[in-house]
Amino acid sequence: MKRGNELMATQNAKMDAKVERLLLRKARLEDRLHRPLRDLRLSVTDRCNFRCPYCMPRERYHEQYRFLKSNERLSFEELARLTRVFVSLGVVKLRITGGEPLVRPGLADLIGDLTTSPGVEDVALTTNGVLLAQQAAPLRAAGLKRVTVSLDSLDPQVFAAMSGGFGSVEEVLQGIEAAQHAGLQPVKLNTVVQRGINDQHVLQLLEHFRGSGVIVRFIEYMDVGNRNDWNRAQVVSSQELLERVAVRWPLEPLEPAYAGEVARRYAFRDGGGEVGFISSVTQPFCGDCSRARLSADGKLYTCLFAAEGADLRSPLRGGANDEELATLVRAVWERRIDRYSELRDQLRARGAQHVEMNYVGG
Ligand code: GTP
Ligand code: 5AD
Ligand code: SF4
Ligand code: SF4
Repeated sequence: MKRGNELMATQNAKMDAKVERLLLRKARLEDRLHRPLRDLRLSVTDRCNFRCPYCMPRERYHEQYRFLKSNERLSFEELARLTRVFVSLGVVKLRITGGEPLVRPGLADLIGDLTTSPGVEDVALTTNGVLLAQQAAPLRAAGLKRVTVSLDSLDPQVFAAMSGGFGSVEEVLQGIEAAQHAGLQPVKLNTVVQRGINDQHVLQLLEHFRGSGVIVRFIEYMDVGNRNDWNRAQVVSSQELLERVAVRWPLEPLEPAYAGEVARRYAFRDGGGEVGFISSVTQPFCGDCSRARLSADGKLYTCLFAAEGADLRSPLRGGANDEELATLVRAVWERRIDRYSELRDQLRARGAQHVEMNYVGG
């Protein structure tokens, strides 16, 4: 009996040591700039039912454009499996993106798998909102807790110009309402601000949503992809916008909700809620960037502005086990030195090419 107990104790000690080693490895994964891997953004499709000129300009994403075929995209099983691998390396937060994720049939099934996956602390979804009215309740039922809706203007004409003529303000507002009604909260809004296009209308969004619990975040127009003919003159700095907002509604800064938060948050002093500013161009936040992105066909990108991704689909379909996949991801992350937004001018001058936003998600 004594020997049995000793054996058990030795086995337990071995197990503890193994768990400790695994935890240490998980805790220690850092890139070359000492940034951990915490967030994974999964693009579930490169297709979208909008053609926002700053992302998928209509003339370049025309009817003959070759989107990924369904067998080229990762299946939900493959996405769930890769997610587990990323979680084993430290990921705790997931964001489902596209293109437009709600055009992928059966998305709620994937959400169900991801929200119940051990180690996943937060799952969010970015959508243009048009299909949200019909999908908010099933998504909530599958375990989704919150959504981020892209909405650039409440003015129908400006909206149409910025969505490429697809969808309507009405549909997006219905989507937001359905999300709130289904208990998806908070609902955050992403508003890309472009000078001369919607910047004169953005305060209208605050007027509309203040006090509703919906959090508007203004995003500086970025040079993502190679197809939107980005022009710095169209960027409205967060500072400029903040001043415009504060004249109308006095603001006070809020502490970040978590380390490395992308948006800088301010509260309306009159209790009308909060507003956020995402300033990738004028105040880059690469120093804290713990985000990996997986394209719909299974390439791993370590920056929104990277040119190339590491193919995980081939080893996945070729029979690699989880440990082997983890080793691949670990090697990619350990080599990572990306900080594009901090080096924008230098890298643009060298003609840096970027992956497209609809392919890798925002
Ligand atoms: P939560 O705080 O978790 O709600 O998410 P978030 O604020 O990171 O929001 P979201 O993922 O919706 O990001 C909002 C926008 O910020 C994106 O659509 C991008 O335009 C921009 N953004 C997010 N992550 C990055 C990033 O890593 N680099 C750059 N340059 N921009 C980013
Ligand atoms: N600059 C800034 N944000 C962009 N998004 C798409 N393209 C750009 C760009 N060029 C944002 C959209 C959406 C998210 C997916 O990415 O507003 O909220
Ligand atoms: Fe579609 Fe979003 Fe890109 Fe607009 S920004 S084209 S809604 S993926
Ligand atoms: Fe991260 Fe690249 Fe964005 Fe910098 S530019 S915050 S490294 S994704």
